[in-house]
Amino acid sequence: MSCSAGGCAPRRDFLKATALSGAALALAACGGGGSEDPDAERLWTDVAPEENLPAGEAGVAEVGDRMLLVYRPDEESVMVFSSVCPHEGCAVGMDGEHFECPCHGSQFEFTGERIAGPAQEDLTSYEAEITEGMIRARL
Ligand code: FES
Repeated sequence: MSCSAGGCAPRRDFLKATALSGAALALAACGGGGSEDPDAERLWTDVAPEENLPAGEAGVAEVGDRMLLVYRPDEESVMVFSSVCPHEGCAVGMDGEHFECPCHGSQFEFTGERIAGPAQEDLTSYEAEITEGMIRARL
């Protein structure tokens, strides 16, 4: 089932279906150590099977002890964000056609860009990809 309006069942299914063990897939931290790249320590982690989030949909995924916001603009691409609100750290969720923080009402596009509210920054994004049927992010 597919829907683009907020509050529909597939998003709930997505959440339930993505409660993963949190096991991370290490994809080789290349180099000889001592890298100054802060992303070098991040591990590629399975977020959800791609079939759980149709193109054009957004959802919330639980991965280990993290809640992630996921948007799939088309068949080939995916965007993954931290659900931690850049205002004061509440958990951002979904509200219709955007992500919204329940604490003080900050709103964000599914692309992570701030729309309104007291938050002054966009959502924190993670490098993400769809590969071999799996949505993955470098967390
Ligand atoms: S903590 Fe999210 S708007 Fe204040």
